[in-house]
Amino acid sequence: MRFPCLRSSLRTLLIAPEAGAVESSQFVFFERETMAAITLKVNGGTHALDVDPATPLLYALSDNLALRGPKFGCGLGQCGACTVIIGGNAVRSCITTVKAVEGLEITTLEGLGTSAQPHPIQQAFIDEQAAQCGFCLSGVILTAKAFIDKNPSATPAQIHEAMSGVLCRCFVHVRMFAAIERYAEQVHHAKAATP
Ligand code: FES
Repeated sequence: MRFPCLRSSLRTLLIAPEAGAVESSQFVFFERETMAAITLKVNGGTHALDVDPATPLLYALSDNLALRGPKFGCGLGQCGACTVIIGGNAVRSCITTVKAVEGLEITTLEGLGTSAQPHPIQQAFIDEQAAQCGFCLSGVILTAKAFIDKNPSATPAQIHEAMSGVLCRCFVHVRMFAAIERYAEQVHHAKAATP
């Protein structure tokens, strides 16, 4: 079966041309790949999905698992809105295939806290009122968490550098950095108190 679609067009930008791609004057067609059973470990649960192994993780999280924390911003790995945490690292799920992360522990915003019991970094953002439209927030929080959990003594300049690739169009950066520094302080003290 051959089909032109946005995902296929997008993949021409993200993924090297594959065997099976057929050029026409108007579209690039891809042969539909064989669906496969892919196991994703997300937020403590295990999910067997029947998907194309080259499916971007962001699509699988949203379309198959109804997790809408990670957002589609640019689709090109440039804005950070789709960031999730995998193995303690911030990863852009729009340019990561499900095959590449099969079996790894994936955390989305939904895997942190709840409204009743926010995770400390979420509470820090609440305390600093560090949100406006909220579209970038999932990516901001998960990028910050991955960085601060490894670098709780980071300086403001290092935090700015770590967050420089995550874009917020509302310009709430001042309050976001205050929230991240507040969270960093908590992680720092918690680690210092651990024997
Ligand atoms: Fe993934 Fe922009 S949507 S980096």
